[in-house]
Amino acid sequence: MNKLIVSLLLTLGMTGVAHAAGDAAAGQAKAAVCGACHGPDGNSMAPNFPKLAGQGERYLNKQLHDIKSGKRTVLEMTGLLTNLSDQDLADIAAYFASQKGSVGAADPKLVARGEKLFRGGDLEKGLPACTGCHSPNGAGNAAAGFPHLGGQHAQYVAKQLTDFRKEEGGRANDGDAMTMRTIARKLSDEDIAAVASYIQGLH
Ligand code: HEC
Ligand code: HEC
Repeated sequence: MNKLIVSLLLTLGMTGVAHAAGDAAAGQAKAAVCGACHGPDGNSMAPNFPKLAGQGERYLNKQLHDIKSGKRTVLEMTGLLTNLSDQDLADIAAYFASQKGSVGAADPKLVARGEKLFRGGDLEKGLPACTGCHSPNGAGNAAAGFPHLGGQHAQYVAKQLTDFRKEEGGRANDGDAMTMRTIARKLSDEDIAAVASYIQGLH
């Protein structure tokens, strides 16, 4: 076989793995260990553990690969993904994506500011509206890998926005376009508190 065909086959093979279709039923058993923190159906009770229920499959799969490879640091999950194959991760992503996400409540004092930022952004600061990618009801865009935000714990959301904003040691797995890092740097602490609270009650 000539080199071109070999590399072509390798590329096709790798794409095949990256897009391995997840099997939600198989994922349920594989996700048993995750339930302790994220809740058996992905609706975690603790505000620092993200809800995974109803999250987009593509986004979940990307995060799992990023966490496994160390691109995104999650100390609480150290070693948990090491022995899971690409198929296992795809199955787990499919399982949590198939569950129904729960919704919390927004702090009434923060709603006005949070809603303004989420829906309108801030023209003066060059901040785009969150709705453009995360959709008006916070459902995200599963096919594009834009995460579902509606109903997510405010404490978790605020930590992510603060982490995206950090120069070093923060969450820098938002891809080459650095979309969320660029956006988060335009948010003050007060902006983050308001928009995170708004998101918690959004559905
Ligand atoms: C000991 C607690 C714990 C366990 C067990 C655990 N996680 Fe996590 N997980 C976390 C924490 C904490 C975060 C968020 C870290 C941060 O603040 O960025 C997280 C983040 C995630 C995220 C990213 C969510 C998002 O919205 O970006 C995914 C996906 C995830 N976990 C999947 C899993 C899976 C699958 C398992 C089981 C194989 C698992 N976790 C087990 C604590 C845990
Ligand atoms: C141009 C598109 C775009 C816009 C506009 C945008 N986001 Fe995002 N956001 C993304 C993408 C893409 C990711 C996932 C990054 C990754 O794959 O790691 C993300 C991730 C996030 C996360 C992490 C979710 C999780 O589960 O950990 C939060 C929180 C978030 N965005 C909040 C916001 C807020 C608040 C705004 C408005 C101020 C906003 N985003 C505007 C594209 C966007």
